[in-house]
Amino acid sequence: MAAAGGDREVGLIGSRVEAFLERAGQQVDAALDRLLPPADQEPRLLHEAVRYSVFAGGKRFRPALVLASAQACGLDADAVLPVACAVEAVHTYSLIHDDLPSMDNADWRRGRPTCHVRYGEAIAILAGDALHDMAFQWILAASDRLGPPDRVLRVVLDLAVALGTQGMVGGQVLDLLAERGQVPADWVPEIHRRKTGCLIRACARVGPLLSGGEEDLVCLTAYGEHLGLAFQITDDVLDVVGEAQKLGKRTGADEASSKATYPKVFGLERSRQMAREEAEAAVAALRPLGPRGELLAELARFVVERER
Ligand code: IPE
Ligand code: IPE
Ligand code: MG
Ligand code: MG
Ligand code: MG
Repeated sequence: MAAAGGDREVGLIGSRVEAFLERAGQQVDAALDRLLPPADQEPRLLHEAVRYSVFAGGKRFRPALVLASAQACGLDADAVLPVACAVEAVHTYSLIHDDLPSMDNADWRRGRPTCHVRYGEAIAILAGDALHDMAFQWILAASDRLGPPDRVLRVVLDLAVALGTQGMVGGQVLDLLAERGQVPADWVPEIHRRKTGCLIRACARVGPLLSGGEEDLVCLTAYGEHLGLAFQITDDVLDVVGEAQKLGKRTGADEASSKATYPKVFGLERSRQMAREEAEAAVAALRPLGPRGELLAELARFVVERER
């Protein structure tokens, strides 16, 4: 009986987080559609390419995390939507550039040919650039509704740093150097913290940065750090054991390009275990939030249990 109850509870948790992600995804997609330039606005090719990559069916995990962080800090999720859209825009930019022939040379993403395969390299590079710029434009244009100017500026600064040379872009450089044997493979935790972790950490910090809750900020920063690492370890694991159909991208690509990954350095089973440990550390960091942290905890478990 106890086991059956436990199973039911797990099922409920699963469906609650799935329902949240579904709803958040719909809200974010509708807002993105309003914010992005229409496909028939000149330069059409650029706007088409941007919409092609944004509306290709991503999980919208990062914008959902922004909304959950805001909700946990008592903020109105609708008001924070421009920030949620901004993180999805920069994430999509990072994917378009990550897939370029000079980087991961991937031809399939989000269930369709990659941006450069469809539109050519120049337009793909520029579509990524455009998404980066729009992200900051959207946050600043919505600043009146987001909160006091000093708090909005902290969000902007946080995002810029997360994307920069000590964050995503720097991590991508280390990732490529490691592939060529120019950075030791055991730097993999640092590579992953930077290339993926920093943006996820920034998403987790949006709520407390806007609410001004300094204690919440400490908790959600630690949560975001563990969550970001759990996310990329799981991405590495899925490249080995996942299904291309579900993931919307090719599997086995990391081994083929000699990437520094967790499975390569630590083995598959240990990597899975490490992802779970990071997710549990993320959940533990939420303890001071009490019930306000429940949804965020479920999102952490989703990250390591996902199949896509
Ligand atoms: C893939 O991110 C790239 C990484 C940083 C691991 P996601 O797994 O969130 O991809 P989408 O947004 O759902 O397509
Ligand atoms: C991508 O890591 C990290 C960023 C885009 C910043 P990966 O190269 O592992 O992502 P996938 O597997 O192509 O989605
Ligand atoms: Mg990559
Ligand atoms: Mg890649
Ligand atoms: Mg990957």
